Amino acid sequence: MKQLLFILTIALITASCAPKQSQKEVQLIPYPVEVEQGIGQYDLDDAVFSFEGEIEGKKALSAYFSQMMASQFGVTLQENKAGSVKFSINSQVPGGEEAYRLRVSPKTVSIDAQSEKGLFYAMQTLRQLVEEEKDGKHYLPVINITDYPRFDWRGMHLDVSRHLFSVAEIKKYIDLMSMYKLNTFHWHLVDDQGWRLEIKKYPKLTEVGAWRSKVGFEANQEKGLNKDDGQPYGGYYTQEQVREIVAYAKDRQVTIVPEIELPGHSAAALVAYPEYYCDNAGDLEIWTQAGVSAGVFCAGKESTFHFLEDVLAETMELFPGEFIHIGGDETPKDTWLKCPKCKKRMKAVGAHDEHELQSYFVGRIEKYLNSHGRRLIGWDEILDGGLAPNAAVMSWRGVQGGVNAAEAGHDVVMTPMFPYYFNHVQNHQPNSPGHPGITSLRDVYTFPSIPEDVSQENKKHIIGIQANIWSEYIPAFKHVEYMMFPRTFALAEVAWSPEKRSWDDFYGRVLTQAEKLKDNGVNVGDISYHVRIDVAPDYAKNSADITFLTERPLPVYYTLDGTTPSQNSLMYKNTFTLSEDAHIKACQFDKKGEALHITEKEIMFHKAFGKSYTLTYKHAPQYDGGGKNGLTNGFLGVWIGVEEKPLEAILDLGEETNISHINSRFKNQPMSWVFGPVKVTYFISADGNKFDKVAEFAPGVTKSDVNEIVQYPADFEAVSARYIKIKADNVGVCPSWHPAAGGKAWIFSDEIIVR
Ligand code: ACM
Ligand code: ZN
Repeated sequence: MKQLLFILTIALITASCAPKQSQKEVQLIPYPVEVEQGIGQYDLDDAVFSFEGEIEGKKALSAYFSQMMASQFGVTLQENKAGSVKFSINSQVPGGEEAYRLRVSPKTVSIDAQSEKGLFYAMQTLRQLVEEEKDGKHYLPVINITDYPRFDWRGMHLDVSRHLFSVAEIKKYIDLMSMYKLNTFHWHLVDDQGWRLEIKKYPKLTEVGAWRSKVGFEANQEKGLNKDDGQPYGGYYTQEQVREIVAYAKDRQVTIVPEIELPGHSAAALVAYPEYYCDNAGDLEIWTQAGVSAGVFCAGKESTFHFLEDVLAETMELFPGEFIHIGGDETPKDTWLKCPKCKKRMKAVGAHDEHELQSYFVGRIEKYLNSHGRRLIGWDEILDGGLAPNAAVMSWRGVQGGVNAAEAGHDVVMTPMFPYYFNHVQNHQPNSPGHPGITSLRDVYTFPSIPEDVSQENKKHIIGIQANIWSEYIPAFKHVEYMMFPRTFALAEVAWSPEKRSWDDFYGRVLTQAEKLKDNGVNVGDISYHVRIDVAPDYAKNSADITFLTERPLPVYYTLDGTTPSQNSLMYKNTFTLSEDAHIKACQFDKKGEALHITEKEIMFHKAFGKSYTLTYKHAPQYDGGGKNGLTNGFLGVWIGVEEKPLEAILDLGEETNISHINSRFKNQPMSWVFGPVKVTYFISADGNKFDKVAEFAPGVTKSDVNEIVQYPADFEAVSARYIKIKADNVGVCPSWHPAAGGKAWIFSDEIIVR
């Protein structure tokens, strides 16, 4: 990070009058491309500002600036032609229409940009630069800044279907985004749990589709985050309110990308208009819990497309931005395969399977949007079965979808659920809102936002990054704020600032900015005491390098035998190497000497450590077990997930090996649609062709309300074998007692252990 100290001539002159020195490093987020700090200060309290030349949106900018200075600092600025704080349009400013140049001397402040966008971002930098002195006066430090963004798409998403937020709260969300130079608000307006956008031609979408029987989502009540009074829950945004929000966002240089989910996640729409559901597909209700309903628009009916085009026509009228998001994720395509009209459609359009039928569906919608001058963007499932020609892709199931789309020449927004789903908890608080699975500030900050596998020539297709906030377990806006910050600082800096960044430097700036936000009434989340345990296996050496990463600059204490660490345990210094089985537990201690959160990881150096295997049925891209050797990498707790089909793996130990023990581990968490296997069978083989069974377990389907790990260890008389086959049968679909009965079930395994 460039942090040159420069001395302006003018500063030197005034130095003789002994100006107040402003030598503190500026605490900006996102950090600008170039910063040169000087000596001295500009006195802001009596400043007059002016705009030079023709500036689009000048009135809004001027109102925004004076209002911001008044509300945040109590500074009343005057505007007239001869101001000493001068905003000018200047086509020479490097870095595009969002770039700006800011020069503060003791006497003047000049801001140049190619467009009003750059001027707006300069205002955000100015906001962060203001120093409030004890005497109640306000200054800017003498400084030169040149700045422009790394990515064009700097996004945040908010789900208003699972829980609804008011117009004022949506505006606050946009405000908070824009303060950190984020420019794209992805508004998830419809889902199985409620339709939130008024569509004049189809009033039942909101009369019926916006209301569910109760607020639901029991886990929120268990944590005390809200109360379920059993009354209907819902609401929606009128078109007038949407126009107001779109205009508000425009004044803050934020483009809104509305999402109209299709063909799946559509129960709310289809309860309102069941005629667009597949015939005889059963009853739907508007969901009161998490998951994906069976609701899917019938791909066989022409009327479905007329309906969706009408809805999209009103949507486009409300949202002037280039992109319309059409969802496309997690489509329950089984319903199509049972529908005569869908089957007829498949035949007519030459779709070989349900994925190609979805491709047809999305392709038709894309043509419609393109013919109205708009571009389609969808979740990465729109790649399955062939991607519509001009579509852009949002990569959420890991990064591979993004890599594939970019290599095929499509624009991509990276939003992999790790680490960009901010609905995952970020700290140790037991009653934090959000989904389990810590995604820390540091995870967000250090994640490589452009996947390494994208070729140099196609990197340009990675147009940006985005964080998503799904609101199943985030029932109120104060919880949204808590999940947003401090992680949005990291997102904003990764999205805007040059790639070379320092965590330690960033962390200091986070503390400053977090305090400022709290002073302004934002419910900033707690920085975690989380210790991330990174494992780098070395298969050739039968060892693994262990690194601990933390957020708080406090010592980490750890044990290797599964016992609870104390401040007398080993203290972490640097990366260390393990070559024997270990159960690592690591933590930091707060001021009271309490370990608020212990991270653990088990590591096993067994005979299949690092060995290759093939899966008969592919795992889902988002559940890859941590990479290529997910089932044999030696560490536990990172899962491979296969949907509906068995988990069947054939391991190659490389040579004939004496073995007498096989174990396999699975997750059993039925309420998350993850079931332990109904049957597990182990086979061995010398040649990879003829397999002999050595053990079998038949646990059947297990209880409903557990979250546990189940293991199937088998000991047998030592035999020599090179290949091992593990077949773990998936229950297939959620059983009849399950809230999502009939929905596809998952099987998750983290390791196959061979001794
Ligand atoms: C998603 O999380 N289903 C896009
Ligand atoms: Zn159908």
